Amino acid sequence: MINARISKPQRLPATPLAFVWHFLRQGHMAGIAVTVAISVIVAVVEAGGTFAFGELINALAADPPDSTAPASTLLPIADPVFIFAVVVGFWMVPPIALRLLGAYLGRFQSDLRARIHDEVLGYVLGHAPRFFLDEGSGSVGHRIRTSALAAYLVIEFLFFRLTRFAALVLIALIMASAQAPRLVPVFAIFVAMFVILSFWGARLCWPYGRSLSAASTAQSGRKVDVVANWDTVLSFARASFEQLQLRPISDREAKAKVRWVDSQSIMGIVLQMIAMAFVVTIGWQGLADAQAGELTVGLFATIMTLALLIAGHLASLGDQFLQFSEQYTQLVDCLEVIARPHEIIDTPGASDLTVVRGAVEFRDLHFGYSESAKVFSGLSLSIRGGARVGLVGPSGAGKSTLIKLMRRQFPWQQGSILIDGQNIADVKWESLHHAVAEVPQSPTLFHRSVRDNILYGRPDADEAALLAAAKSAHCHEFIVARPKGYDAVVGERGMKLSGGERQRVAIARAFLKNAPILILDEATSSLDGEAENLIQDALLKLMDGRTVIAIAHRLSTIMHLDRIIVLDAGRIVEQGSHTELLALNGAYARLWQHQAGGFI
Ligand SMILES: Nc1ncnc2c1ncn2[C@@H]1O[C@H](COP(=O)(O)OP(=O)(O)OP(=O)(O)O)[C@@H](O)[C@H]1O
Ligand SMILES: [Mg+2]
Repeated sequence: MINARISKPQRLPATPLAFVWHFLRQGHMAGIAVTVAISVIVAVVEAGGTFAFGELINALAADPPDSTAPASTLLPIADPVFIFAVVVGFWMVPPIALRLLGAYLGRFQSDLRARIHDEVLGYVLGHAPRFFLDEGSGSVGHRIRTSALAAYLVIEFLFFRLTRFAALVLIALIMASAQAPRLVPVFAIFVAMFVILSFWGARLCWPYGRSLSAASTAQSGRKVDVVANWDTVLSFARASFEQLQLRPISDREAKAKVRWVDSQSIMGIVLQMIAMAFVVTIGWQGLADAQAGELTVGLFATIMTLALLIAGHLASLGDQFLQFSEQYTQLVDCLEVIARPHEIIDTPGASDLTVVRGAVEFRDLHFGYSESAKVFSGLSLSIRGGARVGLVGPSGAGKSTLIKLMRRQFPWQQGSILIDGQNIADVKWESLHHAVAEVPQSPTLFHRSVRDNILYGRPDADEAALLAAAKSAHCHEFIVARPKGYDAVVGERGMKLSGGERQRVAIARAFLKNAPILILDEATSSLDGEAENLIQDALLKLMDGRTVIAIAHRLSTIMHLDRIIVLDAGRIVEQGSHTELLALNGAYARLWQHQAGGFI
């Protein structure tokens, strides 16, 4: 089974470093070891190159140049040609090593980001409907994408850029303490200043990063919402309107970006000035020492080159640190939403729901979408296994809410819902989804082939089962009439099919799913004539041998069911068969007369 192969993440670390660590741990430690090793090697070679350069100058300054005398050189041979070869060697290694590392990091990045995407998507799909209703799919999609990229960039900064710099500074400090100890305090003070200022600057820029992140998400969410509703935009000729509506949101993002870039530039200038002051101070001190005869010319050249190298790193690391803090902020923003704990979780040790007869019972159910929007206050209803029940009532009575609760899409405040005596809050949520099939009023299909859409009900079904389901649902005829048949792609949300065809694909899907409990929410409300006859026929077949709860406004579609329940303002006001309810001469009879008067 597909589900068995992919582990479902139950939790996602909610802080950036824990999030990053969670993914590194899963088979990426070797990649990190390679990155750190190459970063350190490059730093060692870069620092070594400056010392070899100093040695070269010392060797040339020796009067006359002597290849046999050990002079003051640290290298085993003082021949300038040999030292020059060493300098060139040192000079050539870092760019090549960095290119190789770049190629490696490209692969590492693709692999890591793919894993993050997969796992984050798996976790996000475990959220309850309220999450998607509140956040919007555009923003969620944006956050999934951003979290993967930001996590990679955080890793790259920590294990490549920062490591390389730290290694370089450490080596410089060790070398300086051996060769020019008077310069060590200057080194140490500047590095400390730089680190403190970077962190302080990042904290100062933090709010700008946060507002930029929020503005980008809002803009992205809006764009996806507009594109997803392109048909509405088109039918109301509101393209310019949408552009105008988007403008302030885009402006807000642009302004947030400018503030962020400005704050980065100011920090960049400050850090650049520190880097310059560092070079000048080291140079000044070194010059004094050289004039006093405490430093050789070569060592002075080494120290200046090293200082320039570190200053270059300091300045670019400043920029990178600010970019890192931007990515870090974005990751915080993404995780605040996507890594939120799931609203509906299985109780520890929950077992699978086992359905034998398919009896459903609502016991003293209290539910409201919010404190002020109560829908049910103590609803009780019992449906025996295999019964076919119609649910009617005015708009807003709570019919759809009742079946959403039956699928445990929202947590209720009090009471219980039992299926064959098992409280659905205590069984595995996924097993409940397996037990209940729903054909909604306007089913949406995936932008995939019609075959894939039907097989969604049971991905491992064979061709014979697929065809049987399609035939029972009266889909087969219109599918084979198309040139690509079952492989025809149905368009976004199934828009290349008619409403009735979409409905029949959804029914075929439910046939394949073969769940013991069936829910129909206005499954035939928007259809008429031939399409409705086909669908009614398909639904009758689908209902066979299952417990059915069918919501309908048009009473003619449910009048033949075993029992009809009339719901009003979250309360059951009448129940019984069609004839019993007519005899009662109450709410149902009034509805019936109203519809018989011209709506059937
Ligand atoms: N996700 C939601 N968040 C907040 N309130 C909601 C939500 N969904 C529905 N409601 C509210 O709950 C009440 C019951 O809605 P419900 O969809 O159950 O009515 P219904 O009986 O199915 O109506 P209709 O016949 O129009 O489909 C309504 O007042 C509705 O506005
Ligand atoms: Mg409804």
